[in-house]
Amino acid sequence: MASASTICFATQIIHKKKFISTRSKLFHQLLVDAEQVFHSDAAGQRWSKKSYFQGYTSYGSLDQLHRMTDSFFSLSKKLNVMVTQYVKLLGFEIKSSQLYLSRMWLNVMPKFCYHPWHIHPLSVISGTFYLQIPGPTPIRFEDPRLPLFMNRPPIRTPLDSNYISLFPRPGDLILFESWLRHEVPAHQFETPRISVSFNFDWA
Ligand SMILES: [Fe+2]
Repeated sequence: MASASTICFATQIIHKKKFISTRSKLFHQLLVDAEQVFHSDAAGQRWSKKSYFQGYTSYGSLDQLHRMTDSFFSLSKKLNVMVTQYVKLLGFEIKSSQLYLSRMWLNVMPKFCYHPWHIHPLSVISGTFYLQIPGPTPIRFEDPRLPLFMNRPPIRTPLDSNYISLFPRPGDLILFESWLRHEVPAHQFETPRISVSFNFDWA
């Protein structure tokens, strides 16, 4: 088509590769501390048994990891910087100081564990930092316009499909707006997928 078109209502997701080097002391310490949390969190193991199919999350027990160890605190400081940049990119009329890290929790997904479609209600920015990814288990995002499409024909270009999959590697960070629906499909590898998720809320 020769005439100009306007792209509007774009959704911006950040995939920051090598956000923390896997060779760094910090990355190593995060792994050690994550393991310590996993093994010591009996309440979380009980909560996960009821609420997180086959997996473990500290979401219902230890969701203030950034207050627990130096390593998670260091991670939170780095996240503050990235979220400040993201908020600028999004053009939010809000001071970055008005956003604060409200929760940070650990996820361990063994083989066949999955995380169904969800949003992070009442938060502004959410995201995940990846510690252990043994194979390509993605995080998938849904086109937020999907419920309104009614009789729209299918689209050919993969860039405008109704779902996109991002494939993080260890050390990567993914940031998104908290209202954006996402899932992690069933993990297909023997070695668990380990990640740290978080929310930034509006003070
Ligand atoms: Fe999530």
